[in-house]
Amino acid sequence: MSKMSPDEANIAVDTAYSIYQESEDDDSQSYTSGQSLASNVTRYRYENGRRYHAFREGSYYGPNDETYSTYESIVHHLWLLTLNDKLFLAPIEEKADEGGLKILDVGTGTGLWAVDMADFFPTSEITATDLSPTQSTTAPPNIRFEVDDASSEWTYTPSSFDFVHIRGLTGCIRDWPYLYSQAYNHIKPGGYFEHLEFSITTNADPDSDKHSDKVFTAFSESILGVGDKHTGMTFRTIEFMKDYMVNAGFVDVVEKKFIWPIGPWPKDPHLKDLGRWGERNWVDGVEGWVMALYTRLLGWTYAQVQDFVKEFRAVIKDRKNHHYHEVRCVYGRKPFPHEIPATTATNGPEHETQSGDADAMST
Ligand SMILES: C[S@@+](CC[C@H](N)C(=O)[O-])C[C@H]1O[C@@H](n2cnc3c(N)ncnc32)[C@H](O)[C@@H]1O
Repeated sequence: MSKMSPDEANIAVDTAYSIYQESEDDDSQSYTSGQSLASNVTRYRYENGRRYHAFREGSYYGPNDETYSTYESIVHHLWLLTLNDKLFLAPIEEKADEGGLKILDVGTGTGLWAVDMADFFPTSEITATDLSPTQSTTAPPNIRFEVDDASSEWTYTPSSFDFVHIRGLTGCIRDWPYLYSQAYNHIKPGGYFEHLEFSITTNADPDSDKHSDKVFTAFSESILGVGDKHTGMTFRTIEFMKDYMVNAGFVDVVEKKFIWPIGPWPKDPHLKDLGRWGERNWVDGVEGWVMALYTRLLGWTYAQVQDFVKEFRAVIKDRKNHHYHEVRCVYGRKPFPHEIPATTATNGPEHETQSGDADAMST
Protein backbone atom coordinates (compact mmCIF):
# COMPACT_ATOMS: atom_id res chain seq x y z
CA MET A 1 0.00 0.00 0.00
CA SER A 2 1.12 3.58 -0.48
CA LYS A 3 2.75 5.40 2.42
CA MET A 4 0.38 8.35 2.59
CA SER A 5 0.00 10.75 5.48
CA PRO A 6 -3.59 11.20 6.80
CA ASP A 7 -3.76 14.55 4.92
CA GLU A 8 -2.74 12.98 1.63
CA ALA A 9 -5.20 10.13 2.22
CA ASN A 10 -7.90 12.73 2.87
CA ILE A 11 -8.55 11.63 6.48
CA ALA A 12 -9.23 14.70 8.66
CA VAL A 13 -7.49 14.47 12.04
CA ASP A 14 -9.49 15.08 15.22
CA THR A 15 -7.20 17.64 16.89
CA ALA A 16 -8.83 17.12 20.31
CA TYR A 17 -7.59 13.50 20.17
CA SER A 18 -3.94 14.45 20.46
CA ILE A 19 -4.28 16.37 23.74
CA TYR A 20 -6.61 13.97 25.53
CA GLN A 21 -5.10 11.61 28.14
CA GLU A 22 -6.76 8.20 28.35
CA SER A 23 -6.58 6.32 31.66
CA GLU A 24 -7.21 2.59 31.18
CA ASP A 25 -8.74 0.34 28.57
CA ASP A 26 -11.71 -1.33 30.22
CA ASP A 27 -13.60 -2.96 27.37
CA SER A 28 -11.88 -6.32 27.46
CA GLN A 29 -13.96 -9.44 27.10
CA SER A 30 -13.51 -12.98 28.34
CA TYR A 31 -14.08 -16.11 26.31
CA THR A 32 -14.23 -19.73 27.40
CA SER A 33 -13.99 -22.76 25.18
CA GLY A 34 -13.09 -26.44 25.24
CA GLN A 35 -13.94 -29.70 23.56
CA SER A 36 -13.14 -33.33 24.17
CA LEU A 37 -10.97 -34.40 21.24
CA ALA A 38 -8.13 -36.70 20.22
CA SER A 39 -4.88 -35.91 22.01
CA ASN A 40 -2.91 -35.14 18.82
CA VAL A 41 -5.20 -32.15 18.49
CA THR A 42 -5.18 -31.07 22.13
CA ARG A 43 -1.61 -31.86 23.20
CA TYR A 44 -0.79 -28.18 22.90
CA ARG A 45 2.66 -26.59 22.76
CA TYR A 46 3.31 -24.24 25.72
CA GLU A 47 6.05 -21.68 25.17
CA ASN A 48 6.94 -18.27 26.56
CA GLY A 49 3.71 -18.04 28.51
CA ARG A 50 1.50 -18.76 25.49
CA ARG A 51 -0.29 -21.88 24.23
CA TYR A 52 -0.02 -23.03 20.57
CA HIS A 53 -1.86 -25.52 18.36
CA ALA A 54 -0.89 -29.22 18.36
CA PHE A 55 -2.26 -30.43 15.00
CA ARG A 56 0.35 -29.62 12.29
CA GLU A 57 2.34 -28.13 15.16
CA GLY A 58 4.49 -25.14 14.33
CA SER A 59 2.73 -24.17 11.11
CA TYR A 60 0.68 -21.25 12.52
CA TYR A 61 2.37 -18.33 14.24
CA GLY A 62 -0.45 -17.30 16.59
CA PRO A 63 -1.31 -18.71 20.03
CA ASN A 64 -4.61 -20.50 20.64
CA ASP A 65 -5.01 -19.59 24.32
CA GLU A 66 -7.86 -17.66 25.89
CA THR A 67 -6.01 -14.35 25.62
CA TYR A 68 -5.84 -14.83 21.86
CA SER A 69 -9.47 -15.98 21.67
CA THR A 70 -10.53 -12.77 23.40
CA TYR A 71 -8.35 -10.81 21.01
CA GLU A 72 -10.02 -12.53 18.02
CA SER A 73 -13.40 -11.20 19.14
CA ILE A 74 -11.99 -7.67 18.81
CA VAL A 75 -10.95 -8.41 15.23
CA HIS A 76 -14.35 -9.93 14.45
CA HIS A 77 -15.99 -6.73 15.68
CA LEU A 78 -13.59 -4.63 13.60
CA TRP A 79 -14.61 -6.52 10.46
CA LEU A 80 -18.29 -6.08 11.27
CA LEU A 81 -17.75 -2.33 11.69
CA THR A 82 -15.77 -2.26 8.44
CA LEU A 83 -18.46 -4.02 6.41
CA ASN A 84 -21.22 -1.89 8.00
CA ASP A 85 -22.57 -4.74 10.11
CA LYS A 86 -22.49 -7.25 7.27
CA LEU A 87 -20.85 -10.64 7.63
CA PHE A 88 -19.99 -10.81 3.91
CA LEU A 89 -20.13 -8.66 0.78
CA ALA A 90 -20.70 -11.33 -1.91
CA PRO A 91 -24.30 -11.35 -3.20
CA ILE A 92 -25.31 -14.69 -1.65
CA GLU A 93 -28.59 -13.63 -0.05
CA GLU A 94 -30.55 -14.24 -3.27
CA LYS A 95 -29.32 -17.81 -3.30
CA ALA A 96 -30.21 -18.16 0.39
CA ASP A 97 -33.83 -17.31 -0.46
CA GLU A 98 -33.89 -20.32 -2.79
CA GLY A 99 -33.03 -22.71 0.08
CA GLY A 100 -30.39 -23.50 2.70
CA LEU A 101 -26.83 -22.61 1.77
CA LYS A 102 -23.83 -24.89 2.20
CA ILE A 103 -21.08 -22.70 3.60
CA LEU A 104 -17.40 -23.38 4.42
CA ASP A 105 -15.35 -21.13 6.70
CA VAL A 106 -11.64 -21.96 6.41
CA GLY A 107 -9.42 -21.10 9.40
CA THR A 108 -12.41 -20.15 11.51
CA GLY A 109 -10.46 -19.36 14.71
CA THR A 110 -12.91 -19.30 17.60
CA GLY A 111 -15.71 -19.52 15.06
CA LEU A 112 -17.39 -16.18 15.75
CA TRP A 113 -18.06 -15.48 12.07
CA ALA A 114 -19.35 -19.01 11.47
CA VAL A 115 -21.67 -18.83 14.47
CA ASP A 116 -23.03 -15.45 13.36
CA MET A 117 -23.61 -16.89 9.86
CA ALA A 118 -25.39 -19.93 11.32
CA ASP A 119 -27.72 -17.57 13.21
CA PHE A 120 -28.19 -15.30 10.18
CA PHE A 121 -29.01 -18.23 7.85
CA PRO A 122 -30.74 -20.75 10.15
CA THR A 123 -31.50 -23.12 7.25
CA SER A 124 -27.88 -23.14 6.11
CA GLU A 125 -25.36 -25.91 6.78
CA ILE A 126 -22.03 -24.51 7.91
CA THR A 127 -18.69 -26.30 8.12
CA ALA A 128 -15.94 -24.37 9.88
CA THR A 129 -12.37 -25.66 10.01
CA ASP A 130 -9.22 -24.78 11.93
CA LEU A 131 -5.96 -26.27 13.20
CA SER A 132 -7.21 -25.65 16.75
CA PRO A 133 -10.41 -26.97 18.34
CA THR A 134 -11.03 -23.75 20.24
CA GLN A 135 -14.53 -22.95 19.04
CA SER A 136 -17.63 -22.20 21.07
CA THR A 137 -19.29 -25.25 22.62
CA THR A 138 -22.67 -23.52 22.44
CA ALA A 139 -22.77 -23.12 18.65
CA PRO A 140 -26.12 -23.46 16.84
CA PRO A 141 -27.02 -26.93 15.49
CA ASN A 142 -26.48 -25.99 11.82
CA ILE A 143 -22.72 -25.59 12.29
CA ARG A 144 -20.04 -28.25 12.33
CA PHE A 145 -16.48 -27.53 13.45
CA GLU A 146 -13.63 -29.63 12.09
CA VAL A 147 -9.92 -29.72 12.85
CA ASP A 148 -8.29 -29.60 9.44
CA ASP A 149 -5.33 -28.11 7.60
CA ALA A 150 -6.53 -25.83 4.81
CA SER A 151 -3.31 -26.51 2.89
CA SER A 152 -3.97 -30.25 2.65
CA GLU A 153 -6.06 -31.60 -0.18
CA TRP A 154 -9.74 -30.90 0.56
CA THR A 155 -11.82 -34.06 0.87
CA TYR A 156 -15.25 -32.44 0.50
CA THR A 157 -17.50 -33.32 -2.41
CA PRO A 158 -16.46 -31.27 -5.46
CA SER A 159 -18.84 -28.44 -6.43
CA SER A 160 -20.74 -28.78 -3.14
CA PHE A 161 -20.49 -25.35 -1.42
CA ASP A 162 -22.53 -22.24 -2.17
CA PHE A 163 -20.07 -20.02 -0.32
CA VAL A 164 -16.48 -20.38 0.87
CA HIS A 165 -15.10 -17.75 3.25
CA ILE A 166 -11.51 -17.07 4.36
CA ARG A 167 -10.51 -14.25 6.69
CA GLY A 168 -7.18 -13.48 8.31
CA LEU A 169 -4.98 -16.32 7.01
CA THR A 170 -2.14 -14.13 5.79
CA GLY A 171 1.18 -15.69 6.84
CA CYS A 172 -0.46 -19.12 7.24
CA ILE A 173 -0.49 -20.51 3.71
CA ARG A 174 2.47 -21.54 1.57
CA ASP A 175 0.62 -21.99 -1.72
CA TRP A 176 -2.28 -19.56 -2.12
CA PRO A 177 -2.98 -20.41 -5.79
CA TYR A 178 -3.45 -24.07 -4.75
CA LEU A 179 -5.83 -23.03 -1.96
CA TYR A 180 -7.78 -20.87 -4.41
CA SER A 181 -7.96 -23.79 -6.85
CA GLN A 182 -9.34 -26.00 -4.05
CA ALA A 183 -11.97 -23.38 -3.25
CA TYR A 184 -12.86 -23.18 -6.94
CA ASN A 185 -13.20 -26.95 -7.27
CA HIS A 186 -15.43 -27.26 -4.19
CA ILE A 187 -17.79 -24.36 -4.94
CA LYS A 188 -20.92 -25.00 -7.00
CA PRO A 189 -21.20 -23.15 -10.32
CA GLY A 190 -22.82 -19.82 -9.40
CA GLY A 191 -21.45 -20.01 -5.84
CA TYR A 192 -19.09 -17.42 -4.31
CA PHE A 193 -15.66 -17.27 -2.70
CA GLU A 194 -14.84 -14.35 -0.39
CA HIS A 195 -11.41 -13.59 1.07
CA LEU A 196 -10.59 -10.80 3.53
CA GLU A 197 -7.13 -9.80 4.72
CA PHE A 198 -5.26 -7.01 6.47
CA SER A 199 -2.02 -5.38 5.46
CA ILE A 200 1.04 -5.79 7.68
CA THR A 201 2.40 -2.52 6.27
CA THR A 202 1.13 0.77 7.66
CA ASN A 203 1.38 4.37 6.47
CA ALA A 204 4.62 4.72 8.49
CA ASP A 205 7.30 6.40 6.38
CA PRO A 206 10.28 3.99 6.14
CA ASP A 207 12.64 6.92 5.44
CA SER A 208 11.53 9.04 8.38
CA ASP A 209 13.51 9.54 11.61
CA LYS A 210 10.33 9.81 13.66
CA HIS A 211 10.21 7.18 16.40
CA SER A 212 6.74 5.86 15.57
CA ASP A 213 7.60 5.55 11.86
CA LYS A 214 10.72 3.60 12.78
CA VAL A 215 8.91 1.23 15.15
CA PHE A 216 6.02 0.52 12.75
CA THR A 217 8.46 0.06 9.86
CA ALA A 218 10.69 -2.29 11.88
CA PHE A 219 7.63 -4.33 12.77
CA SER A 220 6.21 -4.67 9.26
CA GLU A 221 9.57 -5.28 7.62
CA SER A 222 10.44 -8.01 10.12
CA ILE A 223 7.09 -9.77 9.67
CA LEU A 224 7.20 -9.51 5.86
CA GLY A 225 10.80 -10.80 5.96
CA VAL A 226 9.81 -13.78 8.10
CA GLY A 227 7.20 -14.78 5.52
CA ASP A 228 9.54 -14.20 2.57
CA LYS A 229 12.74 -15.71 3.98
CA HIS A 230 11.83 -18.14 6.77
CA THR A 231 8.38 -19.73 6.57
CA GLY A 232 7.63 -19.36 2.86
CA MET A 233 4.13 -18.30 3.92
CA THR A 234 3.79 -14.77 2.65
CA PHE A 235 2.38 -11.91 4.72
CA ARG A 236 1.84 -9.94 1.49
CA THR A 237 -1.41 -11.79 0.71
CA ILE A 238 -3.55 -8.65 0.53
CA GLU A 239 -1.67 -7.49 -2.58
CA PHE A 240 -2.37 -10.67 -4.53
CA MET A 241 -5.91 -11.73 -3.57
CA LYS A 242 -7.57 -10.22 -6.60
CA ASP A 243 -5.09 -11.84 -9.00
CA TYR A 244 -5.41 -15.18 -7.20
CA MET A 245 -9.19 -14.94 -7.58
CA VAL A 246 -9.08 -14.10 -11.30
CA ASN A 247 -6.34 -16.65 -12.05
CA ALA A 248 -8.28 -19.41 -10.26
CA GLY A 249 -11.11 -18.88 -12.74
CA PHE A 250 -13.60 -16.84 -10.68
CA VAL A 251 -15.61 -14.19 -12.52
CA ASP A 252 -17.40 -10.98 -11.50
CA VAL A 253 -14.46 -10.40 -9.16
CA VAL A 254 -14.87 -7.40 -6.86
CA GLU A 255 -12.15 -5.90 -4.65
CA LYS A 256 -13.07 -3.47 -1.85
CA LYS A 257 -10.40 -1.56 0.07
CA PHE A 258 -10.86 -0.12 3.58
CA ILE A 259 -8.77 1.79 6.10
CA TRP A 260 -8.22 0.66 9.70
CA PRO A 261 -6.92 3.65 11.69
CA ILE A 262 -4.69 2.66 14.62
CA GLY A 263 -6.17 4.81 17.38
CA PRO A 264 -9.28 7.03 17.44
CA TRP A 265 -7.44 9.96 15.84
CA PRO A 266 -9.69 10.58 12.78
CA LYS A 267 -12.40 13.21 13.01
CA ASP A 268 -14.92 11.21 11.03
CA PRO A 269 -17.09 9.27 13.56
CA HIS A 270 -17.01 5.98 11.63
CA LEU A 271 -13.22 6.08 11.19
CA LYS A 272 -12.87 7.14 14.84
CA ASP A 273 -14.87 4.10 15.92
CA LEU A 274 -12.77 1.86 13.69
CA GLY A 275 -9.65 3.49 15.14
CA ARG A 276 -10.76 2.80 18.71
CA TRP A 277 -11.07 -0.91 17.88
CA GLY A 278 -8.02 -0.75 15.61
CA GLU A 279 -5.95 0.41 18.58
CA ARG A 280 -7.21 -2.55 20.62
CA ASN A 281 -6.39 -4.84 17.70
CA TRP A 282 -2.74 -3.78 17.76
CA VAL A 283 -2.30 -3.38 21.52
CA ASP A 284 -3.91 -6.73 22.35
CA GLY A 285 -2.66 -8.57 19.28
CA VAL A 286 1.00 -7.64 18.98
CA GLU A 287 2.48 -10.03 21.55
CA GLY A 288 0.69 -13.02 19.99
CA TRP A 289 1.67 -11.97 16.45
CA VAL A 290 5.39 -11.76 17.18
CA MET A 291 6.23 -14.08 20.09
CA ALA A 292 6.59 -17.32 18.11
CA LEU A 293 7.93 -15.70 14.94
CA TYR A 294 10.62 -13.65 16.68
CA THR A 295 11.77 -16.28 19.20
CA ARG A 296 11.61 -19.34 16.93
CA LEU A 297 12.82 -17.77 13.71
CA LEU A 298 14.72 -14.57 14.47
CA GLY A 299 16.51 -15.77 17.61
CA TRP A 300 15.04 -13.16 19.97
CA THR A 301 14.77 -13.93 23.67
CA TYR A 302 11.49 -13.74 25.56
CA ALA A 303 12.76 -10.61 27.34
CA GLN A 304 13.64 -8.91 24.04
CA VAL A 305 10.15 -9.60 22.70
CA GLN A 306 8.59 -8.21 25.88
CA ASP A 307 10.68 -5.02 25.60
CA PHE A 308 9.66 -4.62 21.96
CA VAL A 309 5.98 -5.20 22.76
CA LYS A 310 6.14 -2.62 25.57
CA GLU A 311 7.74 -0.04 23.30
CA PHE A 312 5.34 -0.79 20.46
CA ARG A 313 2.29 -0.49 22.70
CA ALA A 314 3.52 2.92 23.88
CA VAL A 315 3.86 4.06 20.26
CA ILE A 316 0.38 2.76 19.40
CA LYS A 317 -1.13 4.60 22.36
CA ASP A 318 0.78 7.82 21.78
CA ARG A 319 -1.97 10.20 20.77
CA LYS A 320 0.33 12.32 18.62
CA ASN A 321 0.61 9.48 16.10
CA HIS A 322 -1.80 9.09 13.20
CA HIS A 323 -1.17 5.66 11.76
CA TYR A 324 -3.39 3.36 9.75
CA HIS A 325 -3.25 0.29 7.57
CA GLU A 326 -5.36 -1.17 4.83
CA VAL A 327 -7.71 -4.15 4.72
CA ARG A 328 -9.34 -5.64 1.65
CA CYS A 329 -12.25 -7.86 0.79
CA VAL A 330 -12.22 -9.70 -2.53
CA TYR A 331 -15.03 -11.91 -3.77
CA GLY A 332 -15.81 -13.74 -7.00
CA ARG A 333 -18.31 -16.13 -8.53
CA LYS A 334 -17.57 -19.57 -9.94
CA PRO A 335 -18.89 -19.44 -13.50
CA PHE A 336 -21.45 -21.85 -14.92
CA PRO A 337 -20.03 -24.29 -17.52
CA HIS A 338 -21.58 -22.35 -20.41
CA GLU A 339 -19.69 -19.22 -19.29
CA ILE A 340 -16.28 -20.92 -19.43
CA PRO A 341 -14.28 -20.83 -22.69
CA ALA A 342 -13.98 -24.40 -24.04
CA THR A 343 -10.20 -24.59 -23.45
CA THR A 344 -10.47 -24.11 -19.64
CA ALA A 345 -13.90 -25.66 -18.92
CA THR A 346 -12.77 -28.53 -16.70
CA ASN A 347 -12.06 -28.20 -13.02
CA GLY A 348 -10.66 -24.72 -13.22
CA PRO A 349 -7.10 -23.62 -13.96
CA GLU A 350 -4.44 -26.27 -13.57
CA HIS A 351 -2.36 -26.22 -10.45
CA GLU A 352 0.31 -28.56 -9.17
CA THR A 353 -0.16 -29.85 -5.64
CA GLN A 354 2.62 -28.75 -3.31
CA SER A 355 3.51 -30.64 -0.19
CA GLY A 356 3.37 -28.42 2.88
CA ASP A 357 6.13 -28.27 5.46
CA ALA A 358 4.06 -28.30 8.62
CA ASP A 359 7.14 -27.63 10.74
CA ALA A 360 7.89 -24.25 9.24
CA MET A 361 8.14 -22.60 12.64
CA SER A 362 9.27 -25.46 14.81
CA THR A 363 12.68 -25.25 16.35
C1 LIG B 1 -5.96 -14.66 12.54
S1 LIG B 1 -6.94 -16.06 12.89
C2 LIG B 1 -8.45 -15.71 11.97
C3 LIG B 1 -9.66 -16.41 12.55
C4 LIG B 1 -10.98 -16.17 11.81
N1 LIG B 1 -10.90 -16.52 10.40
C5 LIG B 1 -11.43 -14.73 11.95
O1 LIG B 1 -11.30 -13.97 10.99
O2 LIG B 1 -11.93 -14.38 13.03
C6 LIG B 1 -6.19 -17.30 11.87
C7 LIG B 1 -6.75 -18.69 12.13
O3 LIG B 1 -6.34 -19.54 11.07
C8 LIG B 1 -5.99 -20.80 11.60
N2 LIG B 1 -5.07 -21.44 10.66
C9 LIG B 1 -3.80 -21.09 10.39
N3 LIG B 1 -3.28 -21.90 9.44
C10 LIG B 1 -4.25 -22.79 9.12
C11 LIG B 1 -4.33 -23.89 8.24
N4 LIG B 1 -3.28 -24.25 7.50
N5 LIG B 1 -5.49 -24.59 8.18
C12 LIG B 1 -6.55 -24.24 8.94
N6 LIG B 1 -6.54 -23.20 9.80
C13 LIG B 1 -5.41 -22.49 9.90
C14 LIG B 1 -5.38 -20.50 12.95
O4 LIG B 1 -5.41 -21.61 13.80
C15 LIG B 1 -6.25 -19.33 13.41
O5 LIG B 1 -7.33 -19.79 14.18
